[in-house]
Amino acid sequence: MDDRQAMLEAITLASPAMPHPNPRVGALVLDSSGAVVGRGFHEGPGRPHAEALALAEAGERAAGGTVVATLEPCRHHGRTPPCTGAILASGAARVVIGALDPDPRVAGGGAADLEAAGLQVEVGVAAAEAEALDPGYFHHRRTGRPRVTLKVAMTLDGQVAGADGTSRWITGPDARRDGHALRSRSDAVMVGAGTVLSDDPSLDVRLEGYDGPQPIPVIVAGTRPIPADRTVMGRDPIVLEPGGGGTVDLPVALRTLGEAGIVDLMVEGGPTLASALLRESLVDRIVAHVAGLVGGGVGRPAFGGVFATLADAVPVRIVSVERLGPDLRVECETGPE
Ligand SMILES: NC(=O)c1ccc[n+]([C@@H]2O[C@H](COP(=O)([O-])OP(=O)(O)OC[C@H]3O[C@@H](n4cnc5c(N)ncnc54)[C@H](OP(=O)(O)O)[C@@H]3O)[C@@H](O)[C@H]2O)c1
Repeated sequence: MDDRQAMLEAITLASPAMPHPNPRVGALVLDSSGAVVGRGFHEGPGRPHAEALALAEAGERAAGGTVVATLEPCRHHGRTPPCTGAILASGAARVVIGALDPDPRVAGGGAADLEAAGLQVEVGVAAAEAEALDPGYFHHRRTGRPRVTLKVAMTLDGQVAGADGTSRWITGPDARRDGHALRSRSDAVMVGAGTVLSDDPSLDVRLEGYDGPQPIPVIVAGTRPIPADRTVMGRDPIVLEPGGGGTVDLPVALRTLGEAGIVDLMVEGGPTLASALLRESLVDRIVAHVAGLVGGGVGRPAFGGVFATLADAVPVRIVSVERLGPDLRVECETGPE
């Protein structure tokens, strides 16, 4: 098994995990002949790190071997001891790292410590895939804010509801299941007050057989009171209260959510909130479910406000297009490539 293959296997090991605010990390230990003798992935705060688990399984077979880790091993004492210490104690000769850890407590220091101790250290093996294992983590540590995924179900002509507010259901069951799968990979799901009042969503994951964690509901409250009998109010939501101007300061709100350990935030509308986030450059990814339906007039456009001139349009990169039964799933990213 070469370094890249081993890294891809470590990524696969870790990908189902939901360890936030900690990173998703996978690790393998190869003995001196290159055979896999240990595997591990991090399950979450307070649980052992991936490298520690893989080294524990490998035992003495790690001596002279290679530790493969999707993320740079940590060098600090948190709730668990530093992984650099465990690697040094194991007698491993090489360390292969996918991505450097942007957390300021590590930030290249883990790799440097291992190198200084005489180990051979390779950094950047399948780096893009290693970062794609947990893009929210990298975004969160670099910006202090959660990575924001805006999910929107729209007609072919970009409307999310009729003029009377009806929106159930624009898309079919496959697209709705995809929406629940996106929720299951999010630490929190946010909507504006308008959506709570008109749709009474529960914002939970409802997938057959799902028993993973439920995302925290987040409500962007405004001037209208939100009645206590709304379904989401029974789920202990985070309610972001408006400031003096009657609206929530969204950059401040996202920073607050980041400080609370929310790494991946899904936003499910509505158009007023979606538009405000887009204009503040706070949307990182858009997942649009586009239905084979044409509103054929002005109902509720996916983004509120006025699109005054073409120069105001926000460029996004379409990264994938997929069919979901009768609907299309279009995934886009904002910001530089
Ligand atoms: N198809 C879909 O994917 C989808 C998803 C969600 C919603 N919808 C549809 O969208 C409609 C509701 O959308 P909406 O635009 O009325 O409501 P919204 O975007 O969910 O909520 C907007 C409200 O949030 C409050 N708010 C406070 N601070 C804000 C800020 N900084 N930026 C934006 N809003 C802030 C304001 O409440 P106050 O007005 O009380 O001050 C504002 O009117 C419904 O018809 C629903 O069915 C469709």
